[in-house]
Amino acid sequence: MIIGSKLIYFESLPSTNNHAVQLLKTSEPAEGTIIYTDYQSLGKGQPGNKWESEKGKNLLMSIILYPSFINSDKQFLISMALSLGICDFLRRYITSCSIKWPNDIYVNNDKIAGILIENSIIDENIESTVAGIGLNINQVDFLTDAPNPVSLSMLAGSGYQLSECFNQLSADLDKRYKQLISGDFAGITGEYISRLYRLNEWCMYCDKSGNYTGRIVSVSDIGRLQIEKKSGKISEYSFKEIDFIL
Ligand code: BTN
Repeated sequence: MIIGSKLIYFESLPSTNNHAVQLLKTSEPAEGTIIYTDYQSLGKGQPGNKWESEKGKNLLMSIILYPSFINSDKQFLISMALSLGICDFLRRYITSCSIKWPNDIYVNNDKIAGILIENSIIDENIESTVAGIGLNINQVDFLTDAPNPVSLSMLAGSGYQLSECFNQLSADLDKRYKQLISGDFAGITGEYISRLYRLNEWCMYCDKSGNYTGRIVSVSDIGRLQIEKKSGKISEYSFKEIDFIL
């Protein structure tokens, strides 16, 4: 295995992503090293957001990768592969989940997992990747103002063994990362698009011109979301350029 080849555990940390980034500054950790913890005092979500996770209830991890085989303009492939790995894991327990572009994992209209990727890019090459994953497993009360959190326990009953979930998730992520290494970019991209939340459904969005009805049709080579408007025009968006009206 690559992902999970080395595990570094802390009872608590400010943020597993920050720890992994620091580790990369002072050493060369083996590819696939996972930093994981039971509690983060400063868990980071997407820029400007915190990641809430009650102590010992959920999976909190950061994976160190060296995807030098991917050009920086194709870095979204890493997000796609890891999103699919999380879906593979979830589908062992629940019948369906989807990926809210760019890389939130949803069950129905609720968010069960998030990914925070921090790449170090030098001269168009990805020197290293820190892929942080927060996956809600046993938490049932969410205290912060995250709009729509959900956990596996809330969806599928009883409590889950975190260690078993950790091992299974690592294995599922490893499989998808190996698919990427094998060069199956088309397979990863096709499956990612087919799993998109709201794919082909007419729904409400908001861009810089205001609210409109559109439908997600695809994702571009560089990971921009493509939404068709009722007029037939297709607009492309980068992260933060488009809001899903939930
Ligand atoms: C998001 O906002 O959707 C991204 C959430 C990412 C949370 C994970 S938890 C483990 C890792 N360490 C962090 O500080 N953040 C990521």
